[in-house]
Amino acid sequence: MAKWKILVTRRIPEEGMALLAPDCDIELNPHDRPMTRPELLSSAAGKDGVLCLLTDKIDAEFFDAAPKVRGLANYAVGFDNLDVAEATKRRIPLSNTPDVLTNATADMAWALLFAVARRVVESDTVMRSGTWPGWGPLQFIGGDITGATLGIVGAGRIGAAMAARSKGFGMTVLYTEARRNEAFEKEVGARFVGFDELLGQSDYVSVHVPLLPGTRHLFNYEAFGKMKRTAYLINTARGPVLDEAALVKALKDGLIAGAGLDVYEREPAMTEGLADLSNVVLTPHTASATVASRRGMAVKAATNLLAMLRGEKAPDCLNPGIYG
Ligand code: GLV
Ligand code: GLV
Repeated sequence: MAKWKILVTRRIPEEGMALLAPDCDIELNPHDRPMTRPELLSSAAGKDGVLCLLTDKIDAEFFDAAPKVRGLANYAVGFDNLDVAEATKRRIPLSNTPDVLTNATADMAWALLFAVARRVVESDTVMRSGTWPGWGPLQFIGGDITGATLGIVGAGRIGAAMAARSKGFGMTVLYTEARRNEAFEKEVGARFVGFDELLGQSDYVSVHVPLLPGTRHLFNYEAFGKMKRTAYLINTARGPVLDEAALVKALKDGLIAGAGLDVYEREPAMTEGLADLSNVVLTPHTASATVASRRGMAVKAATNLLAMLRGEKAPDCLNPGIYG
């Protein structure tokens, strides 16, 4: 049997490549950077399937350029880079990589929470600079974590994993969602509240919603103004859920105490002024970057793509209606 022609838009962990290799003729982006738009469109032309990344925009123009594509597997759980409606219209299946990165992402949200509240990065910088004058009663005072109130925005898998970890710190957990989720409440002992109440009562607000038209700039200047001035904001979801310029202004104006961010509105750029603030901790969209999580994503993406190429329903299909 002839092998399927596929494009892998950037090298992924070996476990995924190895699954694809026996049945696929693989064109792999040779560069350690995202493909440019012209590279992506010309390489996808004539391919049967594509394993793509969150940095690849998959839209009508892409589908026009790649008319033979029978499926796309996104190497990410978030899929705001995919035009699902357009793919569905063309009856092209799409998939993502849920579950395998839930723990790693929640762990990273906690790493950011601890780092910003306890001023770990600022303190590290002082130690390295050789300017620490010795112990002092008023140095690097940060936020209390144990016993504080954690507000979870988005009660999906990652929000639940974030909340579950707070049990070790005796925290009160609030959450907000489009709909009340009783399973989530039972699982993590969380109380359902409206967005404004969550903002007003939480000492830590952690964002776990997907990027959708309705969540873009959910956090604007007005929202930051509703938070406690002593509160911290953690975002491991998608950058555009926050208005980043408004966040910088809110931090400068003292509306909130600090922020821990793994994602940005216009990656890899950051809003001017963000990196100058000492009360933010910034990581480069690495929440899923653990050995097991990235391996799991590679295996999932490859498994989904192979199913699509075989004409079977992919395990993590995002538009299963096309099979109906
Ligand atoms: C990473 O941001 C992902 O969505 O997997
Ligand atoms: C993402 O996978 C979520 O459900 O939080």
